[in-house]
Amino acid sequence: MQITTGCRVVIATDERMFDDLAASEVLEVIGSDRLSRAPNVALPTGRTPVGMYRALVSRASEIGEVNCFAVDEYVGIPPADPHSFHFALRRQIVDLLPGATGHLLDGSAPDPETEAARHEIDLAACGGLDLAILGLGKNGHLGFNEPGSPFTSRTRLVRLSEETRRANAASFRQERDVPDQAITMGIGTLLDAAKVLLLVAGARKMPALARLIEGTADQSWPVTALLAHPHSLVIVAPEAVPPTVTARMH
Ligand code: GLP
Repeated sequence: MQITTGCRVVIATDERMFDDLAASEVLEVIGSDRLSRAPNVALPTGRTPVGMYRALVSRASEIGEVNCFAVDEYVGIPPADPHSFHFALRRQIVDLLPGATGHLLDGSAPDPETEAARHEIDLAACGGLDLAILGLGKNGHLGFNEPGSPFTSRTRLVRLSEETRRANAASFRQERDVPDQAITMGIGTLLDAAKVLLLVAGARKMPALARLIEGTADQSWPVTALLAHPHSLVIVAPEAVPPTVTARMH
């Protein structure tokens, strides 16, 4: 089912549909020979995109050269550490697609600000994003652009909110192991993508998704920046659909 707000929103009926729909949208951009150069795609980590990555890997023969850019990374976690987004992206997608080139972030780089600038320059040199794939934070963050991030922001070093550190603690041994800084593509960097695909799964994302569907851009809910994007698609898992939307569907 589809509803139109500022963005196009598609509600998947189950997990399989969620993953397959997302993979098909990505293949529209990275499927062989769609562009005259290798497409540039921003890739998120987290639980939400895992099934989509699996679906893409199963269709690897349809995918040619693709430049895979990390959306974000924890500062202080080296690439070989399984807690790093670098490690997760390699293991879940980049190393499994024969045509993929990883443009990932090094959380252990001696100067994170320089590492952030390097990523932004690398992306520009490759021709900018053709597709930004994003997950959603409980507090509405995109990548690690926390509430209050300017919608014009570029790739940079950021401080993580306590709420985000708590939300991500499950992936670490204890909450105090969660880094308090990260590098993230900026909201402006992401909005420059020709197309944006936002994946929303998990009931805890409902309040943030409701803000997007309400349709008012508000810097305290970073996800609402997508309202200004001309080609954004939101794929929502059934458990994340806010009650206001369910009411509209009847
Ligand atoms: C993290 C990452 C985001 C990710 C989000 C959602 O904080 N910085 O890039 O999209 O959380 O994660 P999950 O899919 O596990 O809910």
